[in-house]
Amino acid sequence: MKFAVFGGTQGVGLEFVKQALDLDPKPSVRLLARTPSKVPAELRENANAAFTTVVEGDIRNQEAVDRVVEGTNVVILSLGNTKSPQNPDAMRPVDTCSVGTPVVLNAMKKHNVQKLICVTSAGVGDSWADVPWWIKPVIWYFIGAALKDKDIQEQQIKDSGIPFVIVRPGGLQNAPKTGVYRVAEHIAELGRVARADVADLCVKLATDEAEWANWVGKTPTQIA
Ligand SMILES: NC(=O)c1ccc[n+]([C@@H]2O[C@H](COP(=O)([O-])OP(=O)(O)OC[C@H]3O[C@@H](n4cnc5c(N)ncnc54)[C@H](OP(=O)(O)O)[C@@H]3O)[C@@H](O)[C@H]2O)c1
Repeated sequence: MKFAVFGGTQGVGLEFVKQALDLDPKPSVRLLARTPSKVPAELRENANAAFTTVVEGDIRNQEAVDRVVEGTNVVILSLGNTKSPQNPDAMRPVDTCSVGTPVVLNAMKKHNVQKLICVTSAGVGDSWADVPWWIKPVIWYFIGAALKDKDIQEQQIKDSGIPFVIVRPGGLQNAPKTGVYRVAEHIAELGRVARADVADLCVKLATDEAEWANWVGKTPTQIA
């Protein structure tokens, strides 16, 4: 297996890379990083070195994104609106997902990659209806712009014709993998989930054909 990972320098994306490199047989993992030194050394050294390729670049750069996607079979997209390392004093962007996703989709079409696993968020798209009414104003106040960015991202993926699963996690926690979580098309409650468990689901979707067949074309919510 050959995985292309976007958003693999931290959070869910980094957890995915770590768990993928623990698989037997080890897949090859190629990831895009604006700051390659952020990718932990143990993922680039020793036994992992032969399996890990870090391509330096920004999601907005088609040439760099093409280099990550070319020759892979599965793309993992776990982008967030983190600050630019080149411009740390600027405000956080609000359009990383909607600007970056078409670049990734172009590369997938060019290189005929037919499996996309994208991490967005509970509350995006039709899952907004599952958010309890009393908390909606608070959520919208704090992360409305991010949800809008991901709404556009999800529509871009659905319109692309590329087979996809969009995972919509609840509030993310830095906690060990439990392997115990709920995944359903609609979960009408607030919930949290470990980043490592979101990565666990992504690994299963990437490697287990039955899991993929169960969710392809769908947008499941995931909470603990
Ligand atoms: N926080 C929550 O509670 C929550 C809840 C539900 C869903 N989510 C969503 O779940 C996903 C994963 O979240 P997370 O907190 O684990 O990860 P995150 O901290 O949001 O990481 C975002 C990743 O995107 C990369 N990235 C951002 N802009 C980029 C660019 N221009 N070019 C290349 N890479 C870029 C970052 O790389 P750099 O290292 O270069 O910044 C980083 O690897 C995100 O979509 C997030 O919005 C979050």
